[in-house]
Amino acid sequence: MPQQPPRDVHLEDVGPDRLPYAQFSNYPDAMQAGYVLFTQRCSKCHTPARPLNSRIASRELWSRYVTQMQRRAGSGITLEEARKIIDFLVYDSKVRKLDRPDEWRAHREALLEKLKREHPDIYELEYAGQEETLLTVR
Ligand code: HEC
Repeated sequence: MPQQPPRDVHLEDVGPDRLPYAQFSNYPDAMQAGYVLFTQRCSKCHTPARPLNSRIASRELWSRYVTQMQRRAGSGITLEEARKIIDFLVYDSKVRKLDRPDEWRAHREALLEKLKREHPDIYELEYAGQEETLLTVR
């Protein structure tokens, strides 16, 4: 029997699901606390890989997405927690994406390559032809 492809794999899901320790240990205390909260609250329906490898970087978009996630039935995320998680995601996006554009682009390129290798059907259906857009932050 041919194996059914997992239907809900996003590009971001094939990347790392945690920050490298060297990165984490350089973050200020409040951001380390935000990261821990983020790993607890944002791993219920998908792994933390999905937000950690996302091309989202702006506060506006993080606020919009975290608010959406927080409102989902059974999210278990309070408004106060959402605020701390947004602050962490904005800070982390500045450090790893906006301040290091070349490294971040290489990271996204590697994700595309990995998805193409591991889930060629999902790649073709959802991502092929949009590579340039997918390599920019937003
Ligand atoms: C109640 C379940 C649930 C929880 C909890 C949850 N998510 Fe999600 N998330 C989803 C689902 C379902 C999708 C895919 C559909 C979508 O994009 O709306 C998703 C998709 C995403 C995406 C991809 C959106 C895109 O289109 O690029 C990001 C980023 C994300 N989640 C971040 C988070 C963050 C950050 C948290 C913690 C604050 C979180 N999620 C908590 C259910 C959840």
